[in-house]
Amino acid sequence: MAVLLAIESSCDETAVSIVRGEKGGSTAVLASEIYSQIDLHREHGGVVPELASRNHSLRLRALVETALANAKVEMAEIEAFAATTGPGLASSLLIGSTAAKGMACACKKPFLGINHLEGHLLSPFLDQTEVPPHVGLIVSGGHTLLMDVSGAGLYQKLGGTRDDAAGEAYDKVGKMLGLAYPGGPEIEKAARNGNPSAYDFPRSMLHEPHLDFSFSGLKTAVLYTLQREKEGFSVPDLAASFQQAVIEILVQKTLRAVRQTGHRRIGLSGGVSLNLALREALNTACQSEGLELSVASPGFCADNAAMIAFAALLRHLAGEQSSLEDDIHPNLPLV
Ligand code: KG4
Ligand code: ZN
Repeated sequence: MAVLLAIESSCDETAVSIVRGEKGGSTAVLASEIYSQIDLHREHGGVVPELASRNHSLRLRALVETALANAKVEMAEIEAFAATTGPGLASSLLIGSTAAKGMACACKKPFLGINHLEGHLLSPFLDQTEVPPHVGLIVSGGHTLLMDVSGAGLYQKLGGTRDDAAGEAYDKVGKMLGLAYPGGPEIEKAARNGNPSAYDFPRSMLHEPHLDFSFSGLKTAVLYTLQREKEGFSVPDLAASFQQAVIEILVQKTLRAVRQTGHRRIGLSGGVSLNLALREALNTACQSEGLELSVASPGFCADNAAMIAFAALLRHLAGEQSSLEDDIHPNLPLV
């Protein structure tokens, strides 16, 4: 049984997790601690990088101690230390990766640098013995990605966003509507009381044969509607119509990816996958097409360290490790 500790600090969540697992066996998350800095950044309407990195360094040590205590694990039992090394904010990535390297050095154990997107991609399969072949849809604040996954470590990019990520569009539209940051959950809440057919917003690239996304036209369409209607608009109707457009694009493109690859399973991950309307729409589509759907548990959708620890565990069990000389990579692609 291998026990690993991982740190996630790529953006504004400081997170530490300890997982246990063995080759061909299931994985157990022994601790998954998250210190959310959202309240600190809310008053600025978005993430302030310097504020994020300073708070990562202030919170990390206590979070590691809490994780060890909750997992009932001694530092000496940890077999390897991991951290997210990209993509993300450089100053934030540096805090987590330097801390994990320091612990690996002090304990004379291996270090693994993990791609944040691989963490999201694998998060629907956290407690399973293997990662089944599937089409992976990652929808987060920074990324909208469709991946062909043959198994752990075997990924091919099918499509991605050409401009804003889905979560970014939610956050920007939330700001336009005067909702609190981050806009995603606020828009979901407002949309529950709105009419999704009230506004006919564009479904950019929906009918083009490729698997890329574009959400900036949709965002601009919301802005023009606001300018045109001045005070007369309904926030719930706008939120519901915007959300309907996003969901339709995501579901239809994912089904197209399924048809292209021949996979019979979809994996859904990332902060936007917390959205119940998206989960329901994808679930309904999967039922009518006879597809399996794997969705990350709510605690592992938004940024967390358990997904990083799980990705690291699979790589560690496969005999991999990273060099302590490896740098962080703010723009690291998944493949
Ligand atoms: O995965 P994540 O925590 O961070 C990144 O790696 O980007 O995703 C954060 C994003 C934000 O844009 C946030 O607005 C969005 O996830 N989000 C949601 C919901 N909850 C979080 N979007 C739509 N509906 C939600 N319920
Ligand atoms: Zn993320």
